[in-house]
Amino acid sequence: MSRLEVQRLHKIYGRGDRSVKAVDDVSFSVAAGSTLGLIGESGSGKSTLGRICLGAEAADSGRIVMDGVDFASLDKAGLARWRRRSSIVLQEPELALNPRRTVGQSVSEPLDVHFKDMSKADRRARGEQAFELAHLSPALWNRYPAELSGGQQQRVGIARAMVTEPEFVVLDEPTASLDLSVRSRILDTLCEVQEAMNVSYLLITHDMSTVSALASDVAVLFRGRVVEAGPWRSVRRNPQNRYTRQLLSAVLTVDRST
Ligand SMILES: Nc1ncnc2c1ncn2[C@@H]1O[C@H](COP(=O)(O)OP(=O)(O)OP(=O)(O)O)[C@@H](O)[C@H]1O
Ligand SMILES: [Mg+2]
Repeated sequence: MSRLEVQRLHKIYGRGDRSVKAVDDVSFSVAAGSTLGLIGESGSGKSTLGRICLGAEAADSGRIVMDGVDFASLDKAGLARWRRRSSIVLQEPELALNPRRTVGQSVSEPLDVHFKDMSKADRRARGEQAFELAHLSPALWNRYPAELSGGQQQRVGIARAMVTEPEFVVLDEPTASLDLSVRSRILDTLCEVQEAMNVSYLLITHDMSTVSALASDVAVLFRGRVVEAGPWRSVRRNPQNRYTRQLLSAVLTVDRST
């Protein structure tokens, strides 16, 4: 069974002449413990889909089902449970973290919100486990985000996303702000975390090496629509859609010039 299944999602922003079809009849599924890469140019609707899957934003129509539970059937308590089971890692770790809280506090914060009944000692222990999972030294617990490197900050973002032991995580350009040398180590950590926790990822990225490192399957978005989908190995080798071919060749051109 799929961990997450979305069917025929639609989302329009604005009205009349100024309206934008951000998501146009999109369906996909993500299996337990696997990664679906959502690729497409800027403005193709990737982040909008991520927010809709997390329940942070409502679609105009369509269905979202996680482990057999239909999002539309949820009451307030059910919605809170959904939020507890999912989380997000954002592109700019520094912006995603509160500069006035120590990184230890930031990592524990989702527990303070979603697991209010958990004892303080247990929350601390879970926070420390998340630090370990993300390969963060315990010595950094009382530091502030500005005192950390970009790579360490993104590890804090990963620890914070994983501290509630979610089943589904959106990775929205998780390595785009990082140096190339740090990128592959962060991707390795994301792979390890997935294996350890059997978490499903929805990976949003422009970067094909990130797709190759993490995703088993991809959906290619163009102006809110899925124009091609399937196993990444076959899409990469033999893209069927003209836009996918453009996307892949643009990347190759950039790669050659750097
Ligand atoms: N809150 C909003 N109000 C109005 N329009 C929006 C809103 N959020 C997104 N859009 C529009 O919806 C479309 C899809 O945006 P989205 O942010 O999902 O794209 P994206 O694929 O994540 O792009 P990027 O790669 O640049 O992050 C864009 O045309 C965008 O301008
Ligand atoms: Mg985006």
